[in-house]
Amino acid sequence: MKKLFAVIGDPIAHSMSPSMHNDLFYYYGIDAHYHALHVKRGDLKRAVDGLRAINISGFNVTVPHKIEILSLLDRVDPLAKAIGAVNTVVNEDGQLVGYNTDGEGSVKGIMNKIPDLHNQNILIIGAGGAAKAIYFTLSSIGVKNIDVTNRTREKAEALVAECPYKVNSQIWTRNDVEERLGEYDIIVQTTSIGMEPDIECQPISLHNLKENSFVSDIIYNPLETKLLRFAKEKGAHTQNGIDMFVLQGALSFKKWTGIFPDQTRMEKMVLKQLGGQEC
Ligand code: ATR
Repeated sequence: MKKLFAVIGDPIAHSMSPSMHNDLFYYYGIDAHYHALHVKRGDLKRAVDGLRAINISGFNVTVPHKIEILSLLDRVDPLAKAIGAVNTVVNEDGQLVGYNTDGEGSVKGIMNKIPDLHNQNILIIGAGGAAKAIYFTLSSIGVKNIDVTNRTREKAEALVAECPYKVNSQIWTRNDVEERLGEYDIIVQTTSIGMEPDIECQPISLHNLKENSFVSDIIYNPLETKLLRFAKEKGAHTQNGIDMFVLQGALSFKKWTGIFPDQTRMEKMVLKQLGGQEC
């Protein structure tokens, strides 16, 4: 029988995940289908009961359900539990098991460009859900130093304090971090600043950026944020959010099917959809 997969969230209509995963099922000859399911806040428990009843093979979880879903699952992977958010659920012999591939997707994307992160001095901009997934995943693999800057200092302090993996970290104000920017090898931008429609905003000034540093922005719409444009002008290497999006999807696909899919094919599919949306 055809296997069933889905993404649940609110809003969900513009999710690019169904096209990406259905294309992969077709490409790898897997008899399965991936649906976008609109599940409103407050309806999550009923939705998960329904997904269990139909024996769904797996599903992605997106805003606003990534945190609440944890209490509805049979098991949660330790890293996802530490992050406190799940974006991928696998039906393992009738048990719904939760994982977080967001942080791993981002870190894998960076490692595609810089394979050894251990001696890198890293700065994360932001302290929300995405920052936490990335900070915890980076800490879990062991890196030299990860500093954080965030508009609300208390949130950055909480993020660092809650991390179960040992890592050197300092929290800086925007002004301080702009002064000492030349010390960082890698900068990861995790806030929504620079996203459509406010594309002329950027979270910090890159005036003191080190040449040849690496700047990664989790935003993919626009494909090049103002921050990345400036970083390029300063001689840095840049990466937009497509890699993270594609890789979190690739890691979900691997958990469901055992196949690590063709990243280039996925990228093409996503870019095609983004192009379509912009028209
Ligand atoms: P996500 O789960 O996508 O990471 P989030 O948890 O709401 O979203 O986190 C959003 C991040 O973007 C936070 O770091 C937030 O800063 P605060 O902790 O001070 O709220 C940051 N952010 C969003 N809009 C911002 C703005 N206009 N200026 C500065 N930081 C902003």
